[in-house]
Amino acid sequence: NAIYGAGLSGILPTIPVDFATLEKRAQAALPPHVLSYVQGGCGDEWTQDQNAAAFRHWGMVPRMMVDCTKRDLSVELFGQKLKSPLFMAPIGVNGIMTPDQHGDLAAARASALTGVPYCSSTLSNDPLEKVAEAQGATPGFFQLYTPRDEALAESLVKRAEAAGYKAIVVTLDTWVTGWRPRDLNTANFPQLRGAVLMNYFSDPVFRASLPKPPEEDPAAAIRAWAAVFGKVLTWDDMPWLRSMTKLPLVLKGICHPDDARRAIDTGADAIYVSNHGGRQANGGIAAIDMLPGVVEAAGKTPVLFDSGIRSGTDVIKAIALGATAVGIGRPYAYGMALAGAEGAAAVLRAILAEADLLMAVNGYPTLDAVRAAGAQRV
Ligand code: FNR
Repeated sequence: NAIYGAGLSGILPTIPVDFATLEKRAQAALPPHVLSYVQGGCGDEWTQDQNAAAFRHWGMVPRMMVDCTKRDLSVELFGQKLKSPLFMAPIGVNGIMTPDQHGDLAAARASALTGVPYCSSTLSNDPLEKVAEAQGATPGFFQLYTPRDEALAESLVKRAEAAGYKAIVVTLDTWVTGWRPRDLNTANFPQLRGAVLMNYFSDPVFRASLPKPPEEDPAAAIRAWAAVFGKVLTWDDMPWLRSMTKLPLVLKGICHPDDARRAIDTGADAIYVSNHGGRQANGGIAAIDMLPGVVEAAGKTPVLFDSGIRSGTDVIKAIALGATAVGIGRPYAYGMALAGAEGAAAVLRAILAEADLLMAVNGYPTLDAVRAAGAQRV
């Protein structure tokens, strides 16, 4: 209503409300190496393209004569009552999306402004404690890239618990970085590296492993980080992962129903369907097409989803296909590129407004009504 109302009074949104325009504007605003990092994906980016394109072969049927003057988009997740099913997916090196190199804090502030939880990446430019503080009253999740050093992993998780995060999201698909031609062709990673390490640099276990503190010898600290990054996780690690925390444990990157069943059997509290936005492996089918199979396998266990969400309509389709909560990735990063925390918040609000309006028009007063209506392959 606020967005439409302002439009009628001639006040147009400063942040574009559709993804194509948003991406174009961000393209012009971001330095080339940052743009290629955030916009790029694996191989020829077929999977990345499929993720978004596949939403076009799912459709919904509206219901009439339903009072939708009030809509309830709230969700109960990890014991938290959330105003909407949206969350901000983890984006490593978020710091570089804003000129002050503190994009992680901007993302956290966008979360505070909107009530949309931010899942903060291990590869954050600001330490997780500061990010948690900037999230204010909005619950946050901590995404763990599991380091090879188990004591370091445990230290990161303990810090996340102490800082008040409400869930630990373990990303399974990134013990090595995927084949990303845009980054490789621009030798991007050396440019990104210096920015990525604050959770490590501030960690007592990591610091104790260094001959000199990172402030004195950052290059050596970066080498130590590279050496310890990326434990190869197998199902044998589940008891250890489970034992690390009493917080809800979420496995990110599950796409196969059998993996979902095994995750739940071995102690996961939620499944997170994602193919990392097509950044890790090319050739995989669209994430949204894998969602229904996982939802069926997961039964009552919550299923988070991301990869390819570009609009409020996409959010509602993902809910219709069974997602409990829906992660926004690149769109909020582009919003930050244009106007920091306010930009990301504007993107989230626009997505939410479109989702809300769609529910209103389609006769879906609640998310349960959206799920009951379902979506059909067209
Ligand atoms: C990511 N993603 C990601 N995931 C994760 O678990 N830890 C991370 O550090 C990152 N880093 C990261 C950086 C950038 C630039 C992007 C775009 C993505 C993946 C992210 O959480 C999510 O799965 C994707 O962004 C979903 O795809 P779309 O919708 O953004 O295309």
